[in-house]
Amino acid sequence: MAEAIVELQDVGKSFRSADGAARSVLEGVDFRLAEGEIVALLGQSGSGKSTLLRILAGLIGVDAGSVRYRGQPLYGPARGIAMVFQSFALFPWLTVQQNVELGLEARGIEPVERARRASDAIDLIGLAGFEGALPRELSGGMRQRVGIARALVVEPEVLLMDEAFSALDVLTGERLRDDILHLWGGGTMPTKAMLIVSHNIEEAVLMADRILIFATDPGRVRAELPITLPRPRDVASLEVRALIDEAYALMTQSAPSTGRAAEEPARLHLGDRLPDADVGRMEALLEMLVEDGRDGRADLPQLAEEAELTDDELLPLTQALALFGFAQVADADLHLTELGRSYVEGAHTLRQQLLGQQLLAHVPLAAHIRHSLEQAPSGELPQEPFIELLMESLDESTAERVLRTAIEWGRYGEVFEYDLRTGLIHLPAGEGEEEMAETD
Ligand SMILES: Nc1ncnc2c1ncn2[C@@H]1O[C@H](COP(=O)(O)OP(=O)(O)OP(=O)(O)O)[C@@H](O)[C@H]1O
Ligand SMILES: [Mg+2]
Repeated sequence: MAEAIVELQDVGKSFRSADGAARSVLEGVDFRLAEGEIVALLGQSGSGKSTLLRILAGLIGVDAGSVRYRGQPLYGPARGIAMVFQSFALFPWLTVQQNVELGLEARGIEPVERARRASDAIDLIGLAGFEGALPRELSGGMRQRVGIARALVVEPEVLLMDEAFSALDVLTGERLRDDILHLWGGGTMPTKAMLIVSHNIEEAVLMADRILIFATDPGRVRAELPITLPRPRDVASLEVRALIDEAYALMTQSAPSTGRAAEEPARLHLGDRLPDADVGRMEALLEMLVEDGRDGRADLPQLAEEAELTDDELLPLTQALALFGFAQVADADLHLTELGRSYVEGAHTLRQQLLGQQLLAHVPLAAHIRHSLEQAPSGELPQEPFIELLMESLDESTAERVLRTAIEWGRYGEVFEYDLRTGLIHLPAGEGEEEMAETD
């Protein structure tokens, strides 16, 4: 095995949230990055990928376990490790040349040497001629190149890239990715190992020697997919398609230890995250499953492409469909269930009834809201107590997002309503009146 450049052992990290409670973001993370390899990290939003990168970059410390760089404990930013952020993070008042020189300045390198090395990095990343430009004069793709040049100029052994391509349009992102792989393969880059965080499964398969799949709450490495194909890889080749399928299958497994797909999604608890899934988009996917020739089953990578959804949009939708019992994922295929078929063939009111019924049965938060409303004398309640409840296990912005999702689903399923004007959640109009009529 090649020598580890950086190594994490049993790393744990929690953050203290506004209410003072510690929330565990990473737990028991073991990770090594060896000389000569590109590793990709895939995982749901909030699973702690950026936190892991910031730990490796020495930007934040850990609460448990050890972080080593070349065998030595890492206590702060190391010279040999550089990071590229998703947002361009350039200084708008500095030119391209000056932005790239910044990192060298901090290291006390002489001006002449600085200028020479910055020009080299700018050439390498394909920005020759733009040294004097200001960031606002550049396209997004060019700005991200400046960000990469700034990381490369310090000649890092380890390059960490946090969704470095995802803020770019697809073609620009692909071109930049290919350029980086070209540099990597050509040996002109001083970098000996790369760790990339991606939301894009195809990108991870095209780039990496190993893909690590991260679990959420708390984050930890849940599965690993080695890729031995030489680069550059042909996205249309059978081998690459099979690996993409495999990565999708791993991403959609909820119980990885059993090694099987998520036929029965794990039961949710009251304070759990909900997949960010819009009902309209869920329905659109179900409808695609019953299109001619599909027969209730479709390949996830193909669905993503046809529906023009990114992986981080598609996967929450499939999770929600599984949660509602309308579809299941197995081996990177999405299958329609019997219930899902009734749903997709049903008229609007039947769909609402089915969704409402499944929501109450499978989403404890929705059942709790409904129950609380039934207990409330006025049949209406503010959101805050529900957010506070969720904040026992989630951070505030996630708690708000989860409640929003539950409310959206509840409104569609006519389980409860939300009044934008008053900010109150209430029982659907008509229900109270019916009850009064009954008691008359
Ligand atoms: N400085 C911080 N203080 C408090 N909580 C934090 C801090 N940084 C991250 N978190 C929380 O830690 C969790 C993991 O965040 P992180 O940014 O590492 O996830 P991620 O996997 O990179 O997500 P994404 O895919 O959305 O970028 C989130 O719930 C986030 O709110
Ligand atoms: Mg992140």
